[in-house]
Amino acid sequence: MLFSKLVNKAKKLLRKLTLVHRLGVLVLVFLGLVFILPALTQQPVTLNLLMTAPDAQPWQQGLVKDFQEKNPGIRINIVEGPNATNLLEDLYSSSFLLGDSPYDLVNMDVIWTPKFAAAGWLLDLTNKVTPKELAAFSPKDVEGGTYEGKLYRMPIRSDAAMLYYRKDLLDAAGYKPPETFQQLMEISQALQKDDKIDWGYVWQGRQYEGLVAMFIEVMQGYGGFWVNPQNLEVGLDKPETLNAIAFLKNTIKEGVSPPGVTTYQEEETRRFFQSGKSAFLRSWPYVWPLANQPDSAIKGKIGITTMVHAPGEQSGACLGGWGLGIAKSSRHPEEAWKAIQYFTSEEAQKQFILSAGYVPSRRDLFKDPEIVAKYGHYPKLLEVVDSAVLRPPIAQYSQASDILQRYLSAALTNRMTPERAMKAAADETRRLLNAGKA
Ligand code: GLC
Repeated sequence: MLFSKLVNKAKKLLRKLTLVHRLGVLVLVFLGLVFILPALTQQPVTLNLLMTAPDAQPWQQGLVKDFQEKNPGIRINIVEGPNATNLLEDLYSSSFLLGDSPYDLVNMDVIWTPKFAAAGWLLDLTNKVTPKELAAFSPKDVEGGTYEGKLYRMPIRSDAAMLYYRKDLLDAAGYKPPETFQQLMEISQALQKDDKIDWGYVWQGRQYEGLVAMFIEVMQGYGGFWVNPQNLEVGLDKPETLNAIAFLKNTIKEGVSPPGVTTYQEEETRRFFQSGKSAFLRSWPYVWPLANQPDSAIKGKIGITTMVHAPGEQSGACLGGWGLGIAKSSRHPEEAWKAIQYFTSEEAQKQFILSAGYVPSRRDLFKDPEIVAKYGHYPKLLEVVDSAVLRPPIAQYSQASDILQRYLSAALTNRMTPERAMKAAADETRRLLNAGKA
């Protein structure tokens, strides 16, 4: 009844309207259907992003919160993954291989770009950024996101390893920070002998990507190399590599490093050093703010320097770092690019670095007064980043790394002699790279 009354009323009203008015009503109804209704019923777009658990917290507190406040139509859903970068890579890879990956943004380690780009899993970002915009970032970080001349990953943060030392203990005993492998051993043993500290040196010795990152620094410190990306020459069975292994094994044999180091990843070594159990630690810059937290046993007692090397050789720092790509399978590439633009902006980067102590990928931030006031070592860190070595940027990187991880771990844990292990690693790597050439 009521409905038919309403319809009659509407009919009467329409009869009174001129043709022009009727057309106007039609246009209004059309506009309402096309624009207003969807806006009222629209759900925010959610961008999924997988990252290591220690990274997730600083992201949630800073970048994500700020971005969502500025972009109410876009949500960022961070999925916490395992700590080891190679396990995270496996998760991303299998989701892309199986198809229908849930991830829109791809949080990528600096070593993944060639593989992910060659597999066709990422959108080409080359035309989204001008060369001038890219020039604001560290060239090596940009290189780490490029494959066959195209850009697939925007750098979010850089990373370069360093040697942390207990400045209080070294100062009190009259030592300068060590420059050579031998000095590192001597200072450690002297401090241990005088009961100043339980252990000398902690490093990452578990079979995972971090082992390789640590090892290429020791290799470079002895003048060796892993794979030359230019001609694919393999240096694993050279005497320099064996010297590097001998040094690491010796740290354990001499009681300078705890036997457990062969099972440690970054976080185990940080906790060890932070609780005051060792004089030296090889790690990434993320350790600095954590080791200087109010509840840290070594707050205000540490210094950093470049990695040690053999006399006459160069110190090696492994270039690490993370950046964002967009999954080709994402249904929200525009929103994903908007997020990347914000996360890589100067404003967002500065806040992120101030709160998390990460290494900037934008060069200006290394000298930003507020950042330098908080992290006095950043101008020096820029030099370390600039001279850091990229792990070989080859599409078969993850397989090459897996080979080295397996055999190096076997040598360090006495399951194989270093000579036999490195001969096998070199042969397998050559076969892998030759197969790639064919
Ligand atoms: C850090 C580095 C990354 C490296 C990893 C190894 O996260 O940034 O590049 O692969 O450590 O554990």
